[in-house]
Amino acid sequence: MAVPIKNAEGIRRMRDACALAADILAELKAQVRPGVTTYDLDQIGRDLIASRGARSAPHGYTIGSRRYPAYTCLSVNEEVVHGIGSLKRILRDGDIISVDVTVEYHGYIGDNAVTVPVGPIAASTARLLEVTERALRLGIAQAVVGNRIGDISQAVQACVESHGFSVVRDMVGHGVGQSMHEEPQIPNFGRKGTGERIKPGMTLAIEPMVNLGGHRVRTLSDGWTVVTADSSPSAHFEHTVLTTEAGPEILTLPRPAAP
Ligand code: MF3
Ligand code: CO
Ligand code: CO
Repeated sequence: MAVPIKNAEGIRRMRDACALAADILAELKAQVRPGVTTYDLDQIGRDLIASRGARSAPHGYTIGSRRYPAYTCLSVNEEVVHGIGSLKRILRDGDIISVDVTVEYHGYIGDNAVTVPVGPIAASTARLLEVTERALRLGIAQAVVGNRIGDISQAVQACVESHGFSVVRDMVGHGVGQSMHEEPQIPNFGRKGTGERIKPGMTLAIEPMVNLGGHRVRTLSDGWTVVTADSSPSAHFEHTVLTTEAGPEILTLPRPAAP
């Protein structure tokens, strides 16, 4: 299977889906504060998505016989990704939460995530967030026509490891478009000059998942929530990026409010 290349119409629709995903992520992360449960946040996410006429891509997403039950992915502290909102998970000062919003709009999907602090957090955790976001920026900067996917992977890994953190290996970034997960896979570790060559019109979800401790992860008995094996905190930043002759363009940026 080849990497899908979006035509002008596909790109227009990706722009709309991604801007919507970014708006919703911005509105949802503004609701993060001590005392709120991750269930509350997921319900807010559900309502925001519905109010914009979009659909949650994770909701009902099936792997084998398991259906993802929530509308957004909300992962606290040692949770890496795919956390399911729960009334039992009450956010407290010092926590971090990764908010991942993936929406389908007019047949195309936008995917983006950020990790945010809840009140004051430990300096080492603040550093983890900074470095993960920087790794994403550096990865995006390699999403240049003529480069290879491994150039993105290598840039992310080098940034993360130079600060003593580790990249998760069991999950990867991905192409995104009419399906949530398309080719190519975009690992957050790898070697420059390897992998698929980047062409114009690819839409790529680049998403470093970075652990303060070791890289190993495991999945909880709910079948979805991925946590660090050593219970160290983990951060996740994600953008959907369009590759163009003029360079990478981040599609998951909120749209300026209409005048
Ligand atoms: N937003 C996720 C990603 O970045 C996908 C959600 S996976 C699901 O790829 F299982 F939760 F649906
Ligand atoms: Co995502
Ligand atoms: Co993704």
